[in-house]
Formats: sequence, structure tokens, C-alpha cells
Amino acid sequence: TKVAVVFGGRSSEHMVSCLSAGSVLPHLDRERFEVVPVGITEGGAWVIGADDTKALEVRDRQLPTVASLVPVSGGELVPVTPDAVLGDVDVVFPVLHGAWGEDGTVQGLLELADIPYVGPGVLASAVAMDKEFTKRLLKDAGLPVGEFAILRRDEQTLADADRERLGLPVFVKPARAGSSVGISKVVDWSHLDSAIALARKTDPKVIIEAAVTGREVECGVLEFPDGRVEASLPAELRIVGGAVDWYDFDAKYLDDVAEFDIPAKLDEHVARDLRRMAVAAFRALDCQGLARVDFFVTEYDELVVNEVNTMPGFTPISMYPAMWAKTGVDYPSLLTTLVETAIA
Ligand code: DAL
Ligand code: MG
Repeated sequence: TKVAVVFGGRSSEHMVSCLSAGSVLPHLDRERFEVVPVGITEGGAWVIGADDTKALEVRDRQLPTVASLVPVSGGELVPVTPDAVLGDVDVVFPVLHGAWGEDGTVQGLLELADIPYVGPGVLASAVAMDKEFTKRLLKDAGLPVGEFAILRRDEQTLADADRERLGLPVFVKPARAGSSVGISKVVDWSHLDSAIALARKTDPKVIIEAAVTGREVECGVLEFPDGRVEASLPAELRIVGGAVDWYDFDAKYLDDVAEFDIPAKLDEHVARDLRRMAVAAFRALDCQGLARVDFFVTEYDELVVNEVNTMPGFTPISMYPAMWAKTGVDYPSLLTTLVETAIA
């Protein structure tokens, strides 16, 4: 089976995607799969790199980009057309995070080309990328979500009634982004407008969420080739030290400040509810293949679903593969399951 691992891309998570691919490529079972690494540059050009993943690691606090890839035969990376790549593979693993990759666009291209791919389809990818519609569908399925308000392109700031309803602090986020890019925690309304302006650098649509006080707990969901959908053991993440008290981009990928427990230390019935809700969220968004569902657990053990990631990080410090490893599905088996589910 020939697998194209596609990574990089035009989103603000380009470098995170490269880091994820740097971890996926060496863990794919080479006895089972022939692997073609396909990079998409920050400008959107498709290139084929050598199957050498050393270039896709963090070096001197610098995250990798597709430009760090090694050309196949020395010289420069040569752009290829998507159809030249896709015409020749059995399945695509889009290890892409964020816009133009995790949001249904690449999935649409692959549907048109009739090529199976790992992960959710067009609708689930598009919905999960958008924090507004994710919450609306989760709520509709009876799942608990936090309070939020939306600012569309033509709306400058939050109405007084919304300020009162949400209370401080709030998190101001681009509605469609990931890896905490463009997110601010606002503890004083006088800082709201600059936070909105920052989020708008990534997305004209901004979501403002009431802060939920609680522990951050994540859960992996995986679909097996026979159609079974299962939840992993949950993980709890904590930030210890670091510049900020929440899980921002640097805390995630650069500073060694995240601590985690797998399984998260939860009462048995809380863990059971959380895993059940993770699968319910996967179904509410009509996902396929995989998702990582992120929760808050309040001090009263109430669960709130924060978001659903349809192509969660696969970096060396990412939770999704780590949770499955603890659940009994090691990294190579996880990747094999994802690819086999895609072509089942
Ligand atoms: N958006 C990043 C990759 C994550 O959710 O892990
Ligand atoms: Mg996310």
C-alpha cells in the first residue's frame, strides 16, 4: 500500500504539522506501507522530499518548515502538481493542522480525486475547525459546552450584555485556528480590543469564550477498520512555570513546561463519562477515523467539552499518540489502524 504523508501547508500551524510529520514518518510500518513524504510549503507549493525525517525536528527553538526538507536528489525542492502525487498513491495521510488542511479543503480535493484518506471527511473537518459551529452541534447533541460570543467581520467589539454574560476572564480566539495561535487571555476589558485585533490576524471571525475554571483533560477517539469507535484513556495536562498560566503555543511546542498524567487522575465514574462524551462528540460532528476531544473538568467534577481536533498533533510531545500507547495501541499500530480504517 502506497501512503502519501502530506504535511506543512498554508496555515498558521505549518510548523506544527512539520513536527507531526517528523514523528509520523518514522513510525509508519515500512514492511506494510510504501511511504511518500509530500510537503506543502507556506506559499502552497507541493514538493516531494527525501524520506529523511531529521529535517523535521525542533532545532535551537526553531520549529521546522517544509523548506527544511531534504530534496530527493540534492539541489532544490522541485514543485509537483497535486494530481501528479495523488495519481500514484493508494491513500493519503493528511498530517495537516489548521486551515487548508484540517478544515475540509484538502479532504474535498481528495474526495474529488477519489482517493481514500485518513481522518474525518469534509463536513466534520470543516465543522471541527470552526469553534462556533463545533459548539453549536455539540450543544445540540446535549453535550456541555462553555459560554461564548461570536464577532463576525463587521462587528468591532463585544456588546455590554455579552460582557456581563461571559464575565472575566475571557479567552479571545480566532474562530478557525489551532495550536493556540492568535489566542489571548483577557483579564481586563480594556485589553479586549487589542486581543480581538490579534485574533483577527488569523481569522476575521473571532470567538470570545468565558474562561472555565478547571483541569485540562483530553481524550483520543479512534475508529477501527471494522467500524468500532473507541475512546483512549484520558490525559491531564498541567502547565508548570512558563511565561503564562495557560497552554499557549510556546508552552505547547517550545518550553518544557507541560506535565501530564495518563491516565488522568479522575474518579472512575468521571473518567467513564468523559470517555463516553468523547465518543458522543465524535459522532455529533459525524467524524471518521480519529479525533482528540478536549475537556475541562471543574472542581465539582463537571465536564465541559472545549473543542474537537480532527487532526490532532502527532509531535513527539503530543497527547494523541501518547494516550493510545497507554491504552494499548502503540504508535506504529495506531498509524496502521488509521490507514487501514481509511481504506476499509
Ligand atoms: N492543533 C494541534 C495540532 C492540536 O490540536 O494538537
Ligand atoms: Mg486545538
